[in-house]
Amino acid sequence: MYTKKVMDHFANPRNMGEIEKPSGVGTVGNAKCGDIMRMYLDIDENGIIQDVKFKTFGCGAAVATSSIATELVKGKTVEEALKVTNKSVVEALDGLPPVKMHCSLLAEEAIHAALWDYAERNGIKIEGLKKPKGDVHEEEEEIVY
Ligand code: FES
Repeated sequence: MYTKKVMDHFANPRNMGEIEKPSGVGTVGNAKCGDIMRMYLDIDENGIIQDVKFKTFGCGAAVATSSIATELVKGKTVEEALKVTNKSVVEALDGLPPVKMHCSLLAEEAIHAALWDYAERNGIKIEGLKKPKGDVHEEEEEIVY
């Protein structure tokens, strides 16, 4: 049911953890399954993503999609990271079962939320970036736990 890549990223997640002083953090959640994903970005003065870490409280596919998403955005520019969609995440994992597609959407939204936070902190506008819908506020998060 799961591809080898999904199993690999689930069993050995890449870039799991947090960044102490991130340039941007995004936390998103899916109300139906209750899963939460948080992405930390370290972006240098040239807009290049130097480091990325994630924390996911959720299903195995959510862990795998977060893990692969960090690999897809690391070393990229902010603009390139914005182009990492849930489709690219699914493709990079060689596919996901239909019922798990929303997990990949969470990965895309988490990246967008972290980029949104980065833009807000720096008072800049990233062309094409919309405020992520799945953004979870700290207070709501506590209720979920
Ligand atoms: Fe909801 Fe995977 S079941 S993120």
